[in-house]
Amino acid sequence: MQTTNIIEIASCVFKYPQSQRIILDINPFHVRSGGHLFLHGKSGSGKTTFLNILCGITEPLKSDIKILETDFSNLSPSQKDRFRADNYGTIFQQFNLLPYLSVKENIALACGFSKQKAYHVSDMEEEIERLMIALDLTSTLLNKQAMHLSVGEQQRVAVARALIGAPKIIIADEPTSALDSDAKESFMKLLFTQIEAQDSTLLFVSHDKGLSSYFQADYDFSQFNRALS
Ligand SMILES: Nc1ncnc2c1ncn2[C@@H]1O[C@H](COP(=O)(O)OP(=O)(O)O)[C@@H](O)[C@H]1O
Ligand SMILES: [Mg+2]
Repeated sequence: MQTTNIIEIASCVFKYPQSQRIILDINPFHVRSGGHLFLHGKSGSGKTTFLNILCGITEPLKSDIKILETDFSNLSPSQKDRFRADNYGTIFQQFNLLPYLSVKENIALACGFSKQKAYHVSDMEEEIERLMIALDLTSTLLNKQAMHLSVGEQQRVAVARALIGAPKIIIADEPTSALDSDAKESFMKLLFTQIEAQDSTLLFVSHDKGLSSYFQADYDFSQFNRALS
């Protein structure tokens, strides 16, 4: 079977408008379908900026990026928003749950924004329950507001929200930074089991090199970003 490239970056350059300094100048690279890419690098090296560009949240100065065989660089901002909602599950450092919504509503919301994700879920209640069990979350949390969850619970709800609807790409930005080392280990195992079960491609960014053992290869972000050399 031929393995396809999910992400192909020929170039990606970024600077803040009010500054002269080039923050990103990415070397060409690709990520294969089902691949797990671990990018680590010093704080301030541009990792979050890079993920925000891949998410269409930040506009680069210049780029040539293909994602899922789509010419991502030439999509309009609203097309990028749609593309992200349909094809990505994202887990951010602060988890970004909506505090007043329940756990169930937070998870279901990902499908509310995407017909493509909703299409993959035949029974919403059942799928949320399945993810909750898989991520070691008790079902008594289902109707609890997100603001009343512990950090570990928020993190796993954020993962359930990222996984629902089986998006092709999961993007995680420092998702373990608020956890102690035992919680980190069980989180990584849960994340990998689920990602492998739904055959998603993972882009995982962290400054914590200790997490590299979960990946086949670890990459220093400076290898990708020639603006740092
Ligand atoms: N609004 C901004 N204006 C100018 N520089 C910024 C702004 N936001 C972030 N930066 C700079 O961009 C660089 C990359 O930041 P970031 O992508 O958050 O790095 P990382 O995620 O690797 O810690 C840092 O040097 C940071 O100081
Ligand atoms: Mg960051």
